[in-house]
Amino acid sequence: MNSYQNKTVWITGASSGIGRALAIEFSKLGANLILSARNNEKLIETRSLCEDIKLVKLLPLDLGEFNLLKEKTIEALSLFEGLDVLINNGGISQRGLAVETPLSVDKRIFDINYFGTVALTKEVLPYFIKKKSGQIAVTSSVVGKFGSPVRTAYAASKHALHGFYDSLRAEIHDYNIGVTIICPGPINTSISENALTASGDKQNKKDPAIADGIAPEVLAKKYIKALRKNKREAWIGKKEVFAIYVKRFFPGLFARIIRNVKVT
Ligand SMILES: NC(=O)c1ccc[n+]([C@@H]2O[C@H](COP(=O)([O-])OP(=O)(O)OC[C@H]3O[C@@H](n4cnc5c(N)ncnc54)[C@H](OP(=O)(O)O)[C@@H]3O)[C@@H](O)[C@H]2O)c1
Repeated sequence: MNSYQNKTVWITGASSGIGRALAIEFSKLGANLILSARNNEKLIETRSLCEDIKLVKLLPLDLGEFNLLKEKTIEALSLFEGLDVLINNGGISQRGLAVETPLSVDKRIFDINYFGTVALTKEVLPYFIKKKSGQIAVTSSVVGKFGSPVRTAYAASKHALHGFYDSLRAEIHDYNIGVTIICPGPINTSISENALTASGDKQNKKDPAIADGIAPEVLAKKYIKALRKNKREAWIGKKEVFAIYVKRFFPGLFARIIRNVKVT
């Protein structure tokens, strides 16, 4: 899609971090915005940071409440009478050793990062297929390309997104619907504060690597650039992007490096 002027963009995870930065960036491009997340107060804050707040509608939702996503989609489609772009960005991370983490925590992470994301996409799909156009993005991670300690369920949920959205891209190609998977490295957001520990509680502290990450505003620009080019996949980060190549071409070396990474 070359221009987002007057296009309607629905962003999940818009109350914070990457989703908020995407909302601000899309608003500068003249898009109509539908912003979703659980925290309505923070969505209001995001809206106040957008260029023209009349073009921003809020639609609070919980990606873990699958049974409500059909209703939410019907509402979303009515807000600006249609939809052009769905940005599946909402998600939670993890900081806990597999051996200490009960399956209930793995399931919670999958419910939000994978099943909630897929459920919402499935609700929007018939609409895009019918109109024979649309763009779907999903925020994966570099950890969707390789595993990393203390993030077993998170990495698995992001890997699973690649399986789903790569397959979907092939299925819907003839309907003129693009599918872009974005894989960021560390981005300076609240992701590590909100990450679930082995107990299922939030970690509530920022990791040094995240504090040292790319600014969400910078990522948002590159994210939208990848969408404009209808890229299948975009890796956006610092040295972590290099690690994707190391894993692919030197898997033994990668295994030695990743097991020595200081876990935070
Ligand atoms: N920051 C990084 O280093 C990094 C790197 C790679 C990938 N990512 C991915 O980028 C995406 C955005 O993360 P971020 O870095 O911006 O972190 P963040 O600041 O913690 O934002 C996460 C967003 O997801 C929303 N969310 C969480 N649980 C939800 C639920 N059950 N239902 C609906 N929305 C929910 C949050 O909103 P509410 O709490 O209001 O619901 C918030 O808006 C995530 O998918 C994350 O995995 C982040």
